[in-house]
Amino acid sequence: VSDNEEGYTLSVASGNIVLKSPSAAGLFRGVQTLRQLLPPQAEMAGGLAGEVAAAVPACYITDAPRFGYRGLHLDVSRHFFSVEEVKRYLDIMALHKFNVFHWHLTDDQGWRIEIKRYPELTDVGSWRKETLIGHGGRPPFTFDGTPHGGYYTQEQAREIVRYAADRFITVIPEIEMPGHAVAAIASCPWLSCTGNDLEVQTRWGVFDDVCCAGRDTVFTFLKGVLDEVAAIFPSQYIHIGGDECPKVRWENCPACQKRMKEEGLKDEHELQSWFITTMEKYLSTHGKRIIGWDEILEGGLAPGATVMSWRGIKGGIEAARMKHDVIMTPTTHMYLDYYQGEPQSEPLAIGGYLPLELVYSFEPLPEELTPEEQKYILGVQGNVWTEYISTLSHLEYMALPRAFAVAETGWTPEMKKDFEEFLSRLDVLGERYDIMGINYFKGDYRNSRGRAE
Ligand code: ACM
Ligand code: ZN
Repeated sequence: VSDNEEGYTLSVASGNIVLKSPSAAGLFRGVQTLRQLLPPQAEMAGGLAGEVAAAVPACYITDAPRFGYRGLHLDVSRHFFSVEEVKRYLDIMALHKFNVFHWHLTDDQGWRIEIKRYPELTDVGSWRKETLIGHGGRPPFTFDGTPHGGYYTQEQAREIVRYAADRFITVIPEIEMPGHAVAAIASCPWLSCTGNDLEVQTRWGVFDDVCCAGRDTVFTFLKGVLDEVAAIFPSQYIHIGGDECPKVRWENCPACQKRMKEEGLKDEHELQSWFITTMEKYLSTHGKRIIGWDEILEGGLAPGATVMSWRGIKGGIEAARMKHDVIMTPTTHMYLDYYQGEPQSEPLAIGGYLPLELVYSFEPLPEELTPEEQKYILGVQGNVWTEYISTLSHLEYMALPRAFAVAETGWTPEMKKDFEEFLSRLDVLGERYDIMGINYFKGDYRNSRGRAE
């Protein structure tokens, strides 16, 4: 869907309401606007009961999104969220006119999608025996002693895809490789360089055991997994991860070193690039394109890859200059797992400080880029990593209202953004959240540690 296709006009005059759009998606976005023009009580179960008079203010609205990609991410590996909870997340996304759900399905701490060819991935990889308590920077670690897990059957994943599509949201699945793969390796130890038995991770972080880049069986496996994933998700894109892959196992692995020699790769970064390019070529046979985290720039970018710029916007700038598509999701503005208020008064979070005002201040198009290069910036995304988020209520609290600021950053032209006016609309939206039973942060929304950038 191009940007303008999601546009609509809404006119409300006495006695009639007319909504027009070139696309069904645009009509759906327009309905969300109309919904927000109704009093928040309209969200009550059963809708507006007789006693509540609903008047929609007379208006004429011409509206269209600034960016064609407006994403919200959810990590269901660190903590599992049920089908019903994911649907609720999609409902919240729809209200805010998001159009992409980035579903982070695999990581060190859990494999969450049924793969029929490799049932061990969910038999073994979807459960961890316990979970770290606190930040656990260094030993001794303490654990909760409670098994945690869960996964989606392929039928359930299809149900999520349909539920999202009904809201004109595309689901982009992420299958992490070559790093963040401990849950897969625990299920199939032959995926790693050493072949040693591992357990599904119970702590957070970045781990040395990754998929071996030398063994052909690893690629047979990944292709088999992606065959099934590609069949479930109609999205043009599949996210292959690519972030935070330590190279120490590859440096010491005869198979990886042999691969480097055979392929003429000068270092392990080039080996990672070769790994990602191999997967990209394979997915293109399914008519799919890849997205990867900005580490996929290291050692050479796979030819058609889209880059998710998370370690700041540098990677995004570099990729756009190379004429690659980019999605901006820098930790500095788009990591909704960071603290949104002062840490001492907030539930434990991964770290950082990202108040609403700072999220809202994000400008996705870097000044360093020419207008021609800026065209490669497809849009923005908020990320919700769930190491420290284990319930739906806490998930909502971390996501909102910051996801509202992400959505507006994706939708509204820079010159029309005004934080004070945004806050006044948040007052009304907050009533809507309250009636819908949605939890959200209600503390200081301002960037109390200094001006937003
Ligand atoms: C990431 O936050 N590791 C992409
Ligand atoms: Zn290896």
